[in-house]
Amino acid sequence: MTQDELKQATARAAIEHVPSGIIGVGTGSTANFFIDELAKIKHKIDGAVASSEATAQRLKGHGIEVLELNSVGELAVYVDGADEITAHMHMIKGGGGALTREKIVAACSKKFVCIADASKLVGMLGKFPLPVEVIPMARSYVARQLTALGGQPVLRQGFTTDNGNVILDVHGLQIMNPVELESRINQIIGVVTNGLFAARPADVLLLGAADGVKTLTAI
Ligand code: A5P
Repeated sequence: MTQDELKQATARAAIEHVPSGIIGVGTGSTANFFIDELAKIKHKIDGAVASSEATAQRLKGHGIEVLELNSVGELAVYVDGADEITAHMHMIKGGGGALTREKIVAACSKKFVCIADASKLVGMLGKFPLPVEVIPMARSYVARQLTALGGQPVLRQGFTTDNGNVILDVHGLQIMNPVELESRINQIIGVVTNGLFAARPADVLLLGAADGVKTLTAI
């Protein structure tokens, strides 16, 4: 099976976790497969909250109503991909640059269902460069602080987030304690948020492998 077929299989499996009502929808290629599956059962839901402009466009393209987060209460479920995930359900996200809105929608959701192909499951986070969303004028200051933490920040060239900010991708981190590092980076002045999703991990991982989609929860 190709990586895309694995992503599609996990996206299909996630439909089982979709209740009636309004759901939160993530961003990225795996989330896109999920949106395509969601379109097939759109009569079952009242609409979706999108974690990016790109996701909002795709949802609308399928005729799924997109609602403002501020006009809905708690969401039952948020479905999204990840760049890396551990057996503790800690993740690195933000490869697509949507980390801040993803974290906000996840925070408003009772259950986080992560959908990923088997290549995303890792023993330790950090091989995938950690995205950090930064207020543009603080870019150099934040980069120096991230270097002091042992990382090598690289500005994502030609990229502006949906919130009008820049992304520093931090290479070379071996993340032993994701909860602590998430909080530490978020305390740097000028950081909007970082792509560690550890304080609020996933609740369920649907992992697409050649022998089928496995359902995992935190060990
Ligand atoms: C978007 O900003 C990301 O957090 C994605 O959820 C993550 O990069 C996974 O993307 P893919 O599904 O494209 O691998």
